[in-house]
Amino acid sequence: DWVMGDYIAEAVASIRKQVGSDEVILGLSGGVDSSVAAALIHRAIGAQLTCVFVDHGLLRLNEGKMVMDMFAKNLGVKVIHVDATNQFMGELAGVSDPEAKRKIIGKEFVEVFQVESGKIKNAKWLAQGTIYPDVIESAGKGKKGAHTIKSHHNVGGLPEDMKLQLLEPLRELFKDEVRELGVALGLPHEMVYRHPFPGPGLGVRILGEVKKEFADLLRRADAIFIEELRSTIDENSGKSWYDLTSQAFAVFLPVKSVGVMGDGRTYEYVVALRAVQTQDFMTAHWAHLPHDLLGRVSNRIINEVRGINRVVYDISGKPPATIEWE
Ligand code: XMP
Repeated sequence: DWVMGDYIAEAVASIRKQVGSDEVILGLSGGVDSSVAAALIHRAIGAQLTCVFVDHGLLRLNEGKMVMDMFAKNLGVKVIHVDATNQFMGELAGVSDPEAKRKIIGKEFVEVFQVESGKIKNAKWLAQGTIYPDVIESAGKGKKGAHTIKSHHNVGGLPEDMKLQLLEPLRELFKDEVRELGVALGLPHEMVYRHPFPGPGLGVRILGEVKKEFADLLRRADAIFIEELRSTIDENSGKSWYDLTSQAFAVFLPVKSVGVMGDGRTYEYVVALRAVQTQDFMTAHWAHLPHDLLGRVSNRIINEVRGINRVVYDISGKPPATIEWE
């Protein structure tokens, strides 16, 4: 529509003016925000943009391939794919505090960017998909001092020695506006209406210490949950339960409980399912998913993911709980 068309024209002009002939690098995470930022900046400056897609080993199932197909193959965006799984896992070993994990993941990201930006001649800007609610939450955190809510790694200053200026073209937009913008820029509907995914990824969905083994189990459980949400249609609205929820995912609990399988006793891990409905992600209700859907997801996870023998559903609202478990 013309309003979004005008917005894009204005944003494109402003990005071109800001950046001039400089090169820009952008960290593509697979989430909606960085994807829309990449599409917008690519529209403005084309080949002056290089995306750096860091696989920290904490992404969802098949996410790497999906991101590379969409941006590199379909849109012709320059994307450098870095597999930094071992580096991240090494740094996270033995660390169980949520904020400490976020700080490590954020720090590793910056380090990978420094290395990659060093390879891109004339890189002067680091673009990020920071949106308005991120800005608000960070401001609130500053005022509260020690009572930090969460350190979103994609908000805030960069180390002095990085020598890159921040380009954040989505800073004034709410989530629904970012999605509209993505559609107007030609991104696929399924991608743009994908649930948001936090920068630290599965790192904050594996409670306590992060291990590759846990990430592998969680990825498979999460993919089953998402698949069932997408394929289960609510009769009243005609929409899928994926579209009826704002965010849904599985959480790995490093707790073992007893179960039975055949004539054997099992002693395996627990997965919690989280699904919420919200407008602004500042407050949220737990989603009243149909019991048969929950039952199907539980059966499939327990039958298909060896190592998980119990599935629970989170019925906590925000506040007092947060959407993520860490
Ligand atoms: P909470 O858990 O605070 O989450 O209710 C609100 C929204 O923010 C996302 N989230 C993050 N996003 N880095 C991010 O980029 C983070 O560290 C982070 N922590 C939470 C969360 O997924 C939800 O959409």
